[in-house]
Amino acid sequence: MEKDREREMKIAVTTTRDADESLNHKAKDVSKDLNIPYIKRGNFSIKKTILKDGFDYLLVIERDKIVIKGEDSTVFWHPNMSELKIKSIRQGNKEAIIEATKLEEGNSILDCTLGLAGDSLVFSAVVGEKGYVVGTEVNKYIAYLSKCGLETYNDVDGKTIDNIKVVNESYENYILKQSDNSFDVVYFDPMFKEPNRKSASINSFRDFADHKGLTKEILMEALRVCRKRVVIKERQGSNEFEKLGIKKYYGGKKNGAIIYGVIEKNIQ
Ligand SMILES: C[S@@+](CC[C@H](N)C(=O)[O-])C[C@H]1O[C@@H](n2cnc3c(N)ncnc32)[C@H](O)[C@@H]1O
Repeated sequence: MEKDREREMKIAVTTTRDADESLNHKAKDVSKDLNIPYIKRGNFSIKKTILKDGFDYLLVIERDKIVIKGEDSTVFWHPNMSELKIKSIRQGNKEAIIEATKLEEGNSILDCTLGLAGDSLVFSAVVGEKGYVVGTEVNKYIAYLSKCGLETYNDVDGKTIDNIKVVNESYENYILKQSDNSFDVVYFDPMFKEPNRKSASINSFRDFADHKGLTKEILMEALRVCRKRVVIKERQGSNEFEKLGIKKYYGGKKNGAIIYGVIEKNIQ
């Protein structure tokens, strides 16, 4: 299904207008990695190139980053709110994502819905060098942006990120292959049904992201694979937790606030 959507999307790789040989070379490498065409950048604007050649998006290789450009939108990797959250956790503040996961130094976590890895960066900082994060992302473009972004990112301490592994695979496939009790925590952040902000870049991210919801069967698999708990991010007021039978959660009480539902593996 996701693979069909990826194939249907008309997308190619190009560069900025002032590209030199090394940037053209990089763009050709990306086109091979993602198995999509490379087009040599002419003198047209990106918008004109998109309209002229009927593309949905162009992956533009810039000197310091990869940007997915649509007619009126851009998506690129950035650490999002993770840096603020990490600083807040270090100051001793309670962050619902950590209250719910109860992650500690040295733990392992499977982030089933990696996206642009904002949550994974928070996990990475909390579990530290002795722990690790595996992030599955079903969409190859999002997975690629995150993989390349994380490779070149220096965190809040100026260090490279060495404890996040990006896997371009659906969590359904990945989880089935994992043995019982193989991660401390399994985490899901499915796409919200209704976006709360109508920005062009969020809408184009939504164009790439997979929108399927969670099933009870997957939650059972996640419980098998975790040692401690499964955590699911949702919005206060959605009836997803009711549907999935989740009663315990952390986070805001106001309608629309982010909440983290918890299913403990061993209920005492
Ligand atoms: C709301 S975003 C996650 C955002 C992420 N937590 C962050 O902090 O950047 C959900 C992501 O999960 C991905 N996704 C949805 N279904 C998936 C599946 N079955 N397997 C793997 N990834 C999936 C979507 O493509 C999307 O990128």
